[in-house]
Amino acid sequence: SPLADNGTATHPNGTSQRLPQIIIIGVRKGGTRALIEMLSLHSSVAAAQNEVHFFDWESHYQKGIPWYLSQMPYAFPDQLTVEKTPAYFTSGKVPKRIHDMNPHIKLLLILRDPTERVLSDYTQVFYNRLQKHKLYQPIEYVLVKDGDINLGYKALNRSLYYVHMQNWLQYFPMDSIHVVDGDELIRDPLPEMKRVERFLKLEPQINASNFYFNKTKGFYCLRDHGKERCLHDSKGRAHPHVAPAILQKLYKFFHEPNQKFFQMVGRTFNWK
Ligand code: A3P
Repeated sequence: SPLADNGTATHPNGTSQRLPQIIIIGVRKGGTRALIEMLSLHSSVAAAQNEVHFFDWESHYQKGIPWYLSQMPYAFPDQLTVEKTPAYFTSGKVPKRIHDMNPHIKLLLILRDPTERVLSDYTQVFYNRLQKHKLYQPIEYVLVKDGDINLGYKALNRSLYYVHMQNWLQYFPMDSIHVVDGDELIRDPLPEMKRVERFLKLEPQINASNFYFNKTKGFYCLRDHGKERCLHDSKGRAHPHVAPAILQKLYKFFHEPNQKFFQMVGRTFNWK
């Protein structure tokens, strides 16, 4: 098959692999799968199926850009390529590496209430361990130490959005980063997706018929060319019950960090 400019093989149907013009950088448990699936509804978007972990895993990064390119989906010439790796957002070395590849790349960051994100993070690890027939401590043992918030719990750090955002703003201006409100994407996906279309300068295409609420799942599902599908069962799981007093401590814990984040991005969010 003929070789494109970048040396990759072009498929007979006219598609080729290209480096992403868009990356969904996180946050873990923010709704990154929902976002990339919903973005894929657009005919001008070609999305990588799996999380690539190129910029955050040394063993991948050492393989270089040709390997990264080989992980990209085949896209038509008029399509934009997107990949999502939620761990990028909280990995300190990633912003410079992405900037080195393409300083004009567009970044999507989907965030949700930091406390909700911690509970979702816990739930994910709980089920990962269960699959390996291992048990995980009850949530309150992980969250609290000596009667106070356990600062050693990693999931708390991932919800300190301003800490990580600082690293990105060293390399990218705010106009290169669009923050998607993950709580709103759950509640009512269409307006959030219209904003994403506008940010990416895509022709407006995603519309109300692309979404329907599935009562059994308790979330919106997707309708693509008449075919209906919901996200995997691992998306939209029930979170463990946490005593109200501990929840209050968490809200208090995140209050200041949230304010710092709002100031940094010049926008507020409805977080408790
Ligand atoms: P929970 O399973 O904790 O509810 P990620 O894909 O980044 O891991 O994020 C997973 C989260 O996406 C889920 O967390 C869920 O709340 C959220 N989400 C957003 N829209 C969704 C949808 N339409 N269907 C299922 N989950 C959705």
